Amino acid sequence: MGDPAGLLWSGYGLDTDSLLRDAERQAETFVDTADSRDARVRMLHRALPFESGVFGRPFRRLLCAVAWGEAAHAGQLLADSVQGLLENSPGITWLTSLPAGDLPARQMLLQLGFRHAARKLSMIYTAETEKRNTPRVRNPVRDFAPTDLPELLALSHHFAPGQFAGLPGIGSERIQEYYAEWIRRAAAGEFADRVLVLESGGSPAGFASYKLRPEVLRLTGRRVLGQSLGAVHPRASGGLLALVEEMQRRRQAEGYELIEFECYAQNRPVVRTLDRLGFVPGPERECFWWSA
Ligand SMILES: CC(C)(COP(=O)(O)OP(=O)(O)OC[C@H]1O[C@@H](n2cnc3c(N)ncnc32)[C@H](O)[C@@H]1OP(=O)(O)O)[C@@H](O)C(=O)NCCC(=O)NCCS
Repeated sequence: MGDPAGLLWSGYGLDTDSLLRDAERQAETFVDTADSRDARVRMLHRALPFESGVFGRPFRRLLCAVAWGEAAHAGQLLADSVQGLLENSPGITWLTSLPAGDLPARQMLLQLGFRHAARKLSMIYTAETEKRNTPRVRNPVRDFAPTDLPELLALSHHFAPGQFAGLPGIGSERIQEYYAEWIRRAAAGEFADRVLVLESGGSPAGFASYKLRPEVLRLTGRRVLGQSLGAVHPRASGGLLALVEEMQRRRQAEGYELIEFECYAQNRPVVRTLDRLGFVPGPERECFWWSA
């Protein structure tokens, strides 16, 4: 495939060629474009059935757009290709993200009508980064039981809109339903391998879920504990610390190499808690959406 002269964005934490090869194996949708001056573009996108179902309209994710060739020329072909993709997908809402700091790609997306929604931070923990801390609250943390579900669902209205911020037709009720459905699927074992529950006064007051990241294992052989979601009711303030500490114990007991906890950079309580427990900041990504 050659070296991409103008890599504009790619899947999280994976180099472009392995991402493209893996996506090929999974029969994702590709769009290839070439022009008479030897510039080439490959775009990769996929349907988002979960988001489409919850929001009641089609969502897709633009995973990757790579350009090869002389930089300025390839960049123009890339912009034209993305524009063509948007124009030929009536009714579709597109989500995408870029490594923070990729200013040319950011500018291109904004010029094509994408809107910036949020900045996502990946916080990484390995045994080497560990810090010693005493949890501020010592509420018990245990495994999820089906009777916990109503209390966990009630936490769904605490979440911020994040990558959906400002999306037309997606108000706070829809966002709440998105997180409620996410929690249901985590509890059902689809979106999570484990759901940990924080207790306060004898009832559930918070949770944190996690899952092995299969695509990272497939591509790199590393067992990463990720796809975490968590929330804590204000009556158990400080409880995320106890939940993440339990996650750190499970990492070791369940044979994970590292924990990757994604959160929005503006979510200071999460960043502060993870920092206290020895997580270090990893790559940051900017999230964008496009809707006609
Ligand atoms: C994120 C969340 C779980 C944290 O709950 P919590 O454990 O009760 O967190 P706290 O409110 O005790 O805050 C944790 C730390 O951040 C600090 N903090 C809180 N708000 C802050 C702010 N606006 N700026 C800076 N620091 C802040 C607190 O002082 C505390 O630090 P300290 O222990 O050194 O004093 C909870 O706010 C929540 O459920 N939010 C909605 C869901 C969500 O955003 N989940 C994360 C996505 S996975």
